[in-house]
Amino acid sequence: MSAESEILTRYSRVAVVGAGVIGASWAAVFLAHGLHVVVNDPRDDAASVVSDYIRKAAPALKEFGLPADNLPRKMRFERDLERAVADVDVVQENGPERIEFKQDLWARIGRVAPTHALLLSSSSAKTATEQALKMEKANRLLIGHPFNPPHLIPLVEVVPGEQTDSNAVTDAVAFYKALGKVPRVLRKEIQGFVANRLQRAIFRECCHLVLEGVVTVDELDDIVTSSIGLRWAADGPFRSFHLGGGPGGFPAFFRQFAPGMEAAWKSQAPVTLDEKAQTTIIEQAEASFAANSVDKLESERDAKQLAILRALASVKEKGTTA
Ligand SMILES: NC(=O)c1ccc[n+]([C@@H]2O[C@H](COP(=O)([O-])OP(=O)(O)OC[C@H]3O[C@@H](n4cnc5c(N)ncnc54)[C@H](O)[C@@H]3O)[C@@H](O)[C@H]2O)c1
Repeated sequence: MSAESEILTRYSRVAVVGAGVIGASWAAVFLAHGLHVVVNDPRDDAASVVSDYIRKAAPALKEFGLPADNLPRKMRFERDLERAVADVDVVQENGPERIEFKQDLWARIGRVAPTHALLLSSSSAKTATEQALKMEKANRLLIGHPFNPPHLIPLVEVVPGEQTDSNAVTDAVAFYKALGKVPRVLRKEIQGFVANRLQRAIFRECCHLVLEGVVTVDELDDIVTSSIGLRWAADGPFRSFHLGGGPGGFPAFFRQFAPGMEAAWKSQAPVTLDEKAQTTIIEQAEASFAANSVDKLESERDAKQLAILRALASVKEKGTTA
């Protein structure tokens, strides 16, 4: 048995707690890998939301060589949380991003879930240590933070808390790898983890530039997709700037650009997202995007991101640097 099959056999029953944008996408990933999924969500339309989402995810799943038809046959819905998690190997939590909610939820789950179960939170920012505050024992709880949509974007940030056992981290990494994801373990807990901290920092400047009238929302998006978006899909910021230094690499890059960069960091003015600022951005965004449905924009996004992944995979097959 391969390592992938072994881990998916050991962790074959998954509870998806919270089935909105992220939970529905995770459900599609788990089902496409043959896992049994129980969905827990108080909303009345949970079954139709998840089934519709799985249908929308089908082109991406097929692209990854995964089955996409009849997936819901291994899925059931259970509104009672304790019953939903009583007999599973994994809980992937995707409820509202409120710390009190997550603390209460994990305290309840911790009392009834099997002791071997991996307890994974999709939270975008709240650490496992703070989520675990009301649990009696949190040795199996850790962050498994995906990037939206989890059925398409490879990264999962794996972040253990102070009480997490090292074998839970090892198994979470193996579990996500077996699902075709790219799990990356953070060496320290930090609010917002890594990818969202980067997005936040960049988005701060995006808002600043639009609010100052330097560019419109549309123009800024074009600038990003035609430059750093493309660059960072190929190479990360450090490798890119190593090349920015030419044959002299990073030392040359720092000699030329470090003083200016440091000065710019020091002089950053605060950006306020008050009602007036939000209205400016919302009006521009609506003028640009509202003519298309979110469904249409999502399917275009998925098609473009799949094309990029396909292109990158073909370059890797031809051989590349370490
Ligand atoms: N949206 C994103 O881009 C994104 C990306 C990565 C991680 N996350 C994280 O994933 C989590 C979910 O975010 P989302 O965007 O899917 O939110 P969402 O609002 O789309 O979904 C949340 C779901 O939780 C359900 N819920 C509410 N109370 C519940 C309860 N008591 N028990 C079970 N389910 C309950 C809601 O009915 C809803 O379906 C958050 O922690 C968020 O930070 C979001």
